[in-house]
Amino acid sequence: MYAQMVRSDAASVRSIEEMEPRERAFQQRIDEGQKIEPKDWMPEGYRRTLIRQISQHAHSEIVGQLPEGNWITRAPTLERKAILLAKVQDEAGHGLYLYCAAETLGISRDEMYDQLHSGRAKYSSIFNYPTLSWADIGCIGWLVDGAAIMNQVPLQRCSYGPYARAMVRICKEESFHQRQGYDILVTMCRKGSDQQRAMVQNALDRWWWPSLMMFGPPDTDSVHSAQSMAWKIKQNSNDELRQKFVDETVPQAKYLGLVIPDPELAWNEERGAHDFGEPDWNEFLAVLNGNGPCNRERLGARRAAWADGAWYREGLMAHAHKRVAGVAAE
Ligand code: 3HC
Repeated sequence: MYAQMVRSDAASVRSIEEMEPRERAFQQRIDEGQKIEPKDWMPEGYRRTLIRQISQHAHSEIVGQLPEGNWITRAPTLERKAILLAKVQDEAGHGLYLYCAAETLGISRDEMYDQLHSGRAKYSSIFNYPTLSWADIGCIGWLVDGAAIMNQVPLQRCSYGPYARAMVRICKEESFHQRQGYDILVTMCRKGSDQQRAMVQNALDRWWWPSLMMFGPPDTDSVHSAQSMAWKIKQNSNDELRQKFVDETVPQAKYLGLVIPDPELAWNEERGAHDFGEPDWNEFLAVLNGNGPCNRERLGARRAAWADGAWYREGLMAHAHKRVAGVAAE
């Protein structure tokens, strides 16, 4: 039901000497730090890579509303409810900016939705896990949005102009999302009861490893990283960003009095970074292949939303056709 993980269309990077003149000039523009805009010539692989990444990113924002939307009616106070509602709406907005950015590359929104609904397109693995308690909402903000920021701040410098510009606003909003999540956990851990602290620890135990998987497979197994980095779509490798995330998150967990569920986690003086254990990559592959705890539920919800909106889309189209016919008759 879900796209398979390994589909290599950009595994090897060609040297500048191997490129034809047009492609060489394109690569030189990238190397000089120039932005590529929609009407510029670009290699087909660059276009395909961007459509793949931006549409996956957009789908992640849209599907990402589901685990949190589940808690809007159960947020513990009116203030928390209003904040969560705003956050979930932000995610919808991010999806829309990103679909617009992808459209500039020559794919239609309908095609992208169709890829999602038919299971041909991926979305972030993280959203196939359930939100079991209010502490999960805190952990999503802290860890999931935290990992998203770590990955997305460098995307503001992506070589493709429309994607880079969309990321500026998205990153600002993601920072607020991260802080709202951490704030929930500060309240629960520092002012809450033993039971609430246990609830947070339980949530961290479940969200830690899936959050590390958000950065993608290890560099040795990453199909697209080398070419995407040569094209400056990605600025950092999956492992580099995962390491940065661990290093930033460990002190935050300590402040909350939580234990990161990794017995191999230790400060490495020589590297000036944390050593940490290996995520369960078999679990990651299972989730990517449609067998995570909530894959069917998530896709089912998106398909149902699309079907439920058919009458509205038809109404809009009928209105648009009438207007066009009216203008033509004048
Ligand atoms: N979940 C699902 N699929 C994943 C994945 C993950 N966590 N990590 C990697 N993959 C997929 C890739 O898409 C690729 O599949 P494909 O060939 O069918 O497209 C395959 O696994 C191999 O991985 P690579 O490392 O070769 O792929 P990339 O170079 O594209 O790197 C990435 C993966 C780091 C996720 C990169 O695509 C990226 O930076 N994307 C933009 C950011 C993004 O999409 N973030 C989603 C996070 S959630 C979010 O933003 C919502 C927010 O509100 C929290």
